[in-house]
Amino acid sequence: MSTDVILKVAHVSKVYGQQQRLIDKLKGQPAQGVRAVSDVSFSIVHGQTMGLVGESGCGKSTIARLVSGLVQPTEGQIELASTPGKTVRPRLQMIFQDPFTSLNGRWTIERSIAEPIIVHGLRTSKAAIRARVDELLEMVGLSSGDREKYPQEFSGGQRQRICIARALAGEPDFLILDEPTSALDVSVQAQVLNLLRDLQARLNLTSLFITHNLSVVRIMADRIGVMYLGELVEEAPAATLFEKPQHPYTRLLIDAAPGMDVEDRALHPILGELPSPSSPPQGCRFHTRCPFVQPKCRTDAPEARPRPDGGMFRCHFNLELGQGGKAAGSSLANELSLSA
Ligand SMILES: Nc1ncnc2c1ncn2[C@@H]1O[C@H](COP(=O)(O)OP(=O)(O)O)[C@@H](O)[C@H]1O
Ligand code: SF4
Ligand SMILES: [Mg+2]
Repeated sequence: MSTDVILKVAHVSKVYGQQQRLIDKLKGQPAQGVRAVSDVSFSIVHGQTMGLVGESGCGKSTIARLVSGLVQPTEGQIELASTPGKTVRPRLQMIFQDPFTSLNGRWTIERSIAEPIIVHGLRTSKAAIRARVDELLEMVGLSSGDREKYPQEFSGGQRQRICIARALAGEPDFLILDEPTSALDVSVQAQVLNLLRDLQARLNLTSLFITHNLSVVRIMADRIGVMYLGELVEEAPAATLFEKPQHPYTRLLIDAAPGMDVEDRALHPILGELPSPSSPPQGCRFHTRCPFVQPKCRTDAPEARPRPDGGMFRCHFNLELGQGGKAAGSSLANELSLSA
């Protein structure tokens, strides 16, 4: 692993439910059950944020659980390294969607935030621990006066700030944020996202940022992975992904996104229904909704192909913007054409 790669995910798949039967294994057939994640690969370098975006059920949280070690991959490898210059085992912290269940209601804020400090032996004296808790509270926009309070005394946005302080208290090499603002009111979301952006820059955090909101991931991530039915269908630096999406699904998501406001609009059921992840379509998984579907797409699963910016996409064809670019009122299929 190159020195500043903190996380490397290589050809990882996760099947929930039934274990692989011996007979299937001998026949070389995959395990039955829900294939939540399929052959996903990406890596994250020190100080960068990788964003994962996709509709509900596409496997985002499963990737979070795999990376954090809460579940084991059915296939593939996950390697986590510590921050360059550090020799201790890499530390990982998670921030979840729901700040209401992430905190122990019977613990004071001080106890919740102090716990990771104590567990990892980052401060030892009582005074030093308290000083660190105060520093963290201030860092997330709360005050030392909040130390003795309980989670119930705070709003959703404030509780998520507390969860962020608690995650940072463990001085993680790597942070996983799984829909950290999805449960919050729109106005509060923007504030929490601003805080996270500040902290990213100030602390040079390395993170995996998961969301179903393309506008959010655009603000937060250096690189973006687009997921569809358990697969990573495109992955690229954020700027060039938006400039030149290569996968039809990415292109549709960008066209359907509500601009740069973070208003929480789910990725629309843009083209009919999302197929069930337990029985994904044969060939290209997107073929039932793709405006450019060709006969080959129904039978052959596309391999990952390189993008010029070092990213990748999974489509048999190249997406090209038609003459004159995007014309008002025209349908996407008229604006774009495919070339083999
Ligand atoms: N523990 C589980 N057992 C069985 N199926 C699961 C489990 N967790 C998730 N799934 C299924 O795996 C798929 C991906 O889920 P998930 O990773 O939660 O997606 P997302 O976070 O993108 O909404 C879904 O079809 C979901 O129903
Ligand atoms: S492989 Fe075919 S169905 Fe799949 S995204 Fe490309 S054009 Fe669409
Ligand atoms: Mg999820």
